[in-house]
Amino acid sequence: MSKMWSGRFKKGAAGLLDRFNASLPFDKELYLEDIEGSKAHAKMLAATGILNRDESEKIIEGLESIKEEIEKGIFVFDIADEDIHMAIEKRLTEKIGDIGKKLHTARSRNDQVALDFRLYVLDKNRKIAALLTKLIKTLVNIAKEHKSTVMPGMTHLQHAQPISFAYHMLAYASMFKRDVERFESSYERNNLSPLGCAALAGTPHPIDREMVASELGFKGITLNCLDTVSDRDFALEILFNISVMMMHISRLSEELIIWSSYEFGFVTISDEYATGSSIMPQKKNPDVPELLRGKTGRVYGNLIALLTVMKGLPLAYNKDMQEDKEGVFDSVETALISLEILIELLKSMKINVEKMQEAVRVGHLTATDLADYLVNKGVPFREAHFITGKAVAMAESKNKDVSELSYEELKEIDSRIEKDVTRYLNLENSMNSRNSAGATSETRVEEQIGYFEKWLGEKES
Ligand code: ARG
Repeated sequence: MSKMWSGRFKKGAAGLLDRFNASLPFDKELYLEDIEGSKAHAKMLAATGILNRDESEKIIEGLESIKEEIEKGIFVFDIADEDIHMAIEKRLTEKIGDIGKKLHTARSRNDQVALDFRLYVLDKNRKIAALLTKLIKTLVNIAKEHKSTVMPGMTHLQHAQPISFAYHMLAYASMFKRDVERFESSYERNNLSPLGCAALAGTPHPIDREMVASELGFKGITLNCLDTVSDRDFALEILFNISVMMMHISRLSEELIIWSSYEFGFVTISDEYATGSSIMPQKKNPDVPELLRGKTGRVYGNLIALLTVMKGLPLAYNKDMQEDKEGVFDSVETALISLEILIELLKSMKINVEKMQEAVRVGHLTATDLADYLVNKGVPFREAHFITGKAVAMAESKNKDVSELSYEELKEIDSRIEKDVTRYLNLENSMNSRNSAGATSETRVEEQIGYFEKWLGEKES
């Protein structure tokens, strides 16, 4: 079978070359974008008089029926066609004859692939952002139930200060909201049509790029054709944005793994999203968060791979760029399924408030409160810090938590300590005393929940 570009070649390409050169096995994922792009192109060719109406209509009908063939699974993908663009065009010519050969007027595969891939990425930006929004809603719903659930806030994975479980969930909601914004801003920046840039320099035909752009729902057209056919920033952006999002998911997963351990027991992952061990009957493993954490690695890999592919390329198109797609497909698929399962995992997860209550009673979470109490009594902070250290040592010698020391015991350490101290050492009071903007007190957490609910409401409307 002779190739579409075979005019200047003496011999047909060999099987080995086909296997090495072809992108069809993976770029068939772009069939819909390719067909929609070609339909818009054909319409424009008729509107500008480059083709006549009849030719354009035949091309569009032909493309529609190819779409049906692909969707019914009866389209024959032949690796000798090299890529989805040529596979569809060849089939079009088989179906409607020589008119099909006119479709590629004023177009090159370079702007065609730039268009198809961009349409794919734009669509996925939206889908990922929508799922992220659902994830945020799930976290906010959990937060609403746990405004007064006290847990140990940590630094260095050591008990630091009491915080609410709601506050912890809202920290993740904040991360995921930034992720949504990143996908949205990438969408906005890249929402420009590349079609009509042709091979690299534009075309002498009197095309109307704006018309194609609005036909396909773009907000405008790209500025410089040489850049446009060389540009894969939109793909790098989605890879980066997915990487950051997966890093956030991975951190949450890590916490879920720790929290579901016997030692912590803060949460119980539902049986649906955990698995057993083949040898140890008692085990229930947190496979889902572990896989979410693990999959972060491949997503980073895809980003670094494409950055590396692009770094040395002279303008404009180079075949190296065919390596742009598989990593993006893989990262997108990973992102979508990861979000879906994480949402279900969180919705079905049991939160063990009593376990958190036990945990806050160890580790002297209110030590800073004692120091702050002394500062309020006029003791310089450094001295207050030292006195509190003595209180911690006393508590440890008595096998107690600082919050469990009585007023009489504390008074022995420093005479400036008065009866009201116990109020300050109470865990709930300690949490609620942190009432500065963005802090963990119930009032501030309510404020944050309100903020997210307003944001979610605007997203939904
Ligand atoms: N299959 C190619 C790709 O994915 C399409 C563009 C080919 N262009 C070319 N001049 N060979 O990048």
